[in-house]
Amino acid sequence: MKHELVIVLDFGGQYNQLIARRVRDLNVYCEVKSYKTPIDEIKKMNPVGIIFTGGPNSVYLETSPTISPEIFNLNIPVLGICYGSQLMAHLLGGEVKSAETSEYGKTETSFSPESLMFKGLKEKSITWMSHTDRIEKVPEGFKITAFSKSCPVAAMENSKKGLYAVQFHPEVSHTEQGNEILRNFLYEVCGVKGDWSMKNYINTAVNNVREKVGDGKVLLALSGGVDSSVLAALLSKAVGSKLTCIFVDHGLMRKNEGDEVEAAFKDRDLNFIRVNAGERFLTKLKDVTDPETKRKIIGEEFIRVFEEEAKKIGKVDYFAQGTIYPDVIESGSGDAAVIKSHHNVGGLPDYVDFKEIIEPLRLLFKDEVRRLGRELELPDYLVNRQPFPGPGLAIRIIGAITEEKIKILQDADFIFREEIAKANLDTEINQYFAVLTNMRSVGVMGDFRTYDYTLAIRAVTTTDFMTADFAQIPYPTLAKISNRIVNEVSNINRIVYDITTKPPSTIEWE
Ligand code: XMP
Repeated sequence: MKHELVIVLDFGGQYNQLIARRVRDLNVYCEVKSYKTPIDEIKKMNPVGIIFTGGPNSVYLETSPTISPEIFNLNIPVLGICYGSQLMAHLLGGEVKSAETSEYGKTETSFSPESLMFKGLKEKSITWMSHTDRIEKVPEGFKITAFSKSCPVAAMENSKKGLYAVQFHPEVSHTEQGNEILRNFLYEVCGVKGDWSMKNYINTAVNNVREKVGDGKVLLALSGGVDSSVLAALLSKAVGSKLTCIFVDHGLMRKNEGDEVEAAFKDRDLNFIRVNAGERFLTKLKDVTDPETKRKIIGEEFIRVFEEEAKKIGKVDYFAQGTIYPDVIESGSGDAAVIKSHHNVGGLPDYVDFKEIIEPLRLLFKDEVRRLGRELELPDYLVNRQPFPGPGLAIRIIGAITEEKIKILQDADFIFREEIAKANLDTEINQYFAVLTNMRSVGVMGDFRTYDYTLAIRAVTTTDFMTADFAQIPYPTLAKISNRIVNEVSNINRIVYDITTKPPSTIEWE
C-alpha cells in the first residue's frame, strides 16, 4: 500500500526530526531528506506536500544551503519554516535582511483568520521564535498573514501557488497552536486524508514480511530492549514459527528483566530460545576492572554464545535487525547519510549463515515503535523500557564484577526505578539508574559501625543522548529513595546523587 507522503527537506535545522514526528502524529507519513535531493527524485516520490526546515545560515550568503526554485513550480504545496521561510522569500524575489535585534523565545503573534493555515485558530497566541534574519519584503503575489512586535512577516503565503511560510517554529511545543497550524497545512492546504497509523502499518509490514520470507527461516537476536522486542512481536505475527529468537541472558540485566522478556514471548507463536549464560560471562569478567576491557569481553562473549546457538539452527534465510529511522536518516548538514555507530547498524554478522537482512522497523521513530508494540499487545514494561547498554550492569558496577555486587545493584536500582515511577517522574526523566561505586565508607546502623558501599544514582533529561542534563528530582523523592535503599538493601550505607551534565560527564559511568 502506498501512503500519502510529506517530505521534510532538511536545511540543517535542529528540529528536522521533530517536524517529521509531528507530521506523523497527525497521521501523515513523512520522510526527512537532505536539501540536496535532486528535484527529479522528489517528483518521483510523489509527495502531497513539502516542508523546508529551519537552519543556522543566512539565505543571502553564497555558501548557504539552497534549492532550485523549480521546487515551487511542481504544483505541490510547500511550507517554509524559519530559514525555510526566508529561503522561499529570497528565491522568489522578496527581501531578507539581518534585523537589529534577534527575536528569541515565546512571542505573541497575530494571525489572519482568513488564511487556511490559521483557519479556526485564535487570532493571537504565543509562538516560538529563534531568528536574527527576517523577511523585509514579501515576493510578488504573496501576502502577510501573521506578524509579531519585531517581526513584520511572521507568516506569508501565495495561496494560489500553494506556497506558505512561517518565521516561527510550529513544531515546537512552546508554540501554542503549532499542532493546529501543521494540521491545517496538511489537511486544509495539502488536502490529505491521513492514512498513517500504526494499525495500517502493522498490516502493511506483516504482508510485506510474509511475501518476502515465504517459507524461509528468520533469525533474530532478541536483547529485550524496545526495538528488538517489538520486532519479535511483529515478525511473530507475520511468520509465526518460521521465526527463531535467541535471547542471550548475560546475567547483567536489571532485576527480573530476563524473566520478563521470557514471559512476554514464551506464549507467542515463535521459537524462543533463552540462553542463561550468566556464569559464563562472570567467569570471563573475573577481576576485570577496565571499562573498555569489560565492554570488549562482553561483546565477544555475546557473539560466541549467539554463534553457538545459531549453529544449532543451521542455515537461515533472513537475519532480522531492529534498525529504526533515526539510525538511517539523512541529514541536510552532512554530505553523507549519518549512521550512528549503533549495534543494530553497520557491521553485518558474518558468524551467522544467512541470505539477507530484513529491517521492518526501518521507517519508524522510537515513539512509533513503542506505539506499534502497544498495538501488538506487548506488556508496558517492555514497551516503555528506557535505553539500556548492551554490556548491562557490568558498566554500572565500578571495578571488578561479582555475583554479590550484581545482586546489590539490581535491588537498589529496582527501588530507585520504582520510586521514580511512583512520583510520576518516569515520563519526564529520559534515563535513570543506579551505579554501584567501588568506594566504601564508614556508617552507623543501630549501635554498629558499618563499612559499606556507596551507591550513586543517575537521572538525566535529554532528547538525543548526545548531551544531557541531570534531572531535578524533588528532595522529598530523593529522601524516600535514599531511605528505602539503605533500609532494604544490605551492604549500602551511603547514597550520592550525580549532578553532572553531559558533557563533561557521560550518562553511564563506564
Ligand atoms: P553515554 O554513557 O555515552 O551513553 O553518555 C549514551 C547513551 O548510550 C547508552 N549506551 C549504550 N547503549 N550499548 C548500547 O546499546 C552500549 O555499549 C552503550 N553504552 C552506553 C547509554 O545508556 C545512554 O543511553
